[in-house]
Amino acid sequence: MTHQVRLAGRTTAFDVADGETVLQAGLRNHLALPFGCQSGSCASCRVRKLEGEVAYAFEPPALSAAEIEAGYILMCLAQARSDLVIDLHQPPQIESLRPRQLPCRVQSKTWLAHDVLGLSLKLPKNSDFTWLPGQYIDLLLDDGRRRSFSIANAPGRGMLELHVRVAPGGRFAHWAAHEMPERAILRFEGPLGAFYLRDESTRPVVMVAGGTGIAPIHAMLEALTAGTHTRPVRLYWGVRAQRDLYIHERLLRWAREHDWLRYVPVLSDADDGWDGARGLVHEAALHDQPDLHDVEAYLSGPPVMVRAGKQAFAAAGLDADHLFYDSFDYAHETWPAVG
Ligand SMILES: Cc1cc2nc3c(=O)[nH]c(=O)nc-3n(C[C@H](O)[C@H](O)[C@H](O)COP(=O)(O)OP(=O)(O)OC[C@H]3O[C@@H](n4cnc5c(N)ncnc54)[C@H](O)[C@@H]3O)c2cc1C
Ligand code: FES
Repeated sequence: MTHQVRLAGRTTAFDVADGETVLQAGLRNHLALPFGCQSGSCASCRVRKLEGEVAYAFEPPALSAAEIEAGYILMCLAQARSDLVIDLHQPPQIESLRPRQLPCRVQSKTWLAHDVLGLSLKLPKNSDFTWLPGQYIDLLLDDGRRRSFSIANAPGRGMLELHVRVAPGGRFAHWAAHEMPERAILRFEGPLGAFYLRDESTRPVVMVAGGTGIAPIHAMLEALTAGTHTRPVRLYWGVRAQRDLYIHERLLRWAREHDWLRYVPVLSDADDGWDGARGLVHEAALHDQPDLHDVEAYLSGPPVMVRAGKQAFAAAGLDADHLFYDSFDYAHETWPAVG
């Protein structure tokens, strides 16, 4: 039995067949829908269901109880059990942001920190590839595997900048750091994800990044500092120790130059000489602002930080409509090898 999915505020509708997810059906109908991992963990395909019923083969991992309560579904897992109306909340330029596959050339690689590699990737000449600051790409490896990395810069220079954490056992990162030939050609798919600044909102913004989770937020701030932005932004960047604050000076400078930006580095394992904030980064944000009813929040970084932040921020009054996040999950085929 098929069901119809209607997009709120548009004339568009499409059919979902039995056994098909809402995302599969939408893509089959050539709609530009937001998605990323297609396995329930990144929440890029999170949309609000206004009418109808869906079912899941298993609990949608990326959704909190508060999000489910607020009517959010993950299109990549949801199967329709009745006709549906969904609210996509898409940016107007979504058609030009359809994910596609392209080559790029490694222009340079630099150690940004002891365990973070900066990669500059040159886009093909005359490419019209663009993205919303905050989105990410999947690098397509030779053996068919994919690795997700946030684009750390704003569009406009014909380049993609990545901040790649080089963890022990990390296949792509190890290869990129130690074996990748100079000027290597890589392939990628993008832009992906729905982590971008909602500029239609006037709410003050709280940004919380953990480790290389600063990459998509750096892209957002690069765009904002180059424009006429005035909406207040408080950025909390959590890392282990001072040596991990690999773009600290730039963030300090931006905060000095722009009244609307406040930047708070937070160390979880600070030495005695550190007189700044300490502890868990989302707790530092809540310490400064315990009531989040009126803000809009953006979280990016390790899954454990994003999960804890989502829960704590919901408890502090933030509703799911004003919470956006990118959870830096590990590439899936490595899961069984761990733990
Ligand atoms: C939307 C999105 C954006 C991302 N953006 C970035 C980014 O900008 N920068 C960045 O550095 N990362 C980012 N990530 C995370 C990155 O994609 C993954 O960490 C990826 O697995 C790295 O690939 P790799 O081949 O280098 O390492 P992998 O071979 O995939 O291994 C990574 C490390 O994690 C360990 N590991 C693997 N699985 C687990 C697990 N389940 N639990 C604990 N440890 C595990 C491995 O042993 C190794 O140490 C992003 C992820 C997503 C989903
Ligand atoms: S695409 Fe649906 S959760 Fe990632």
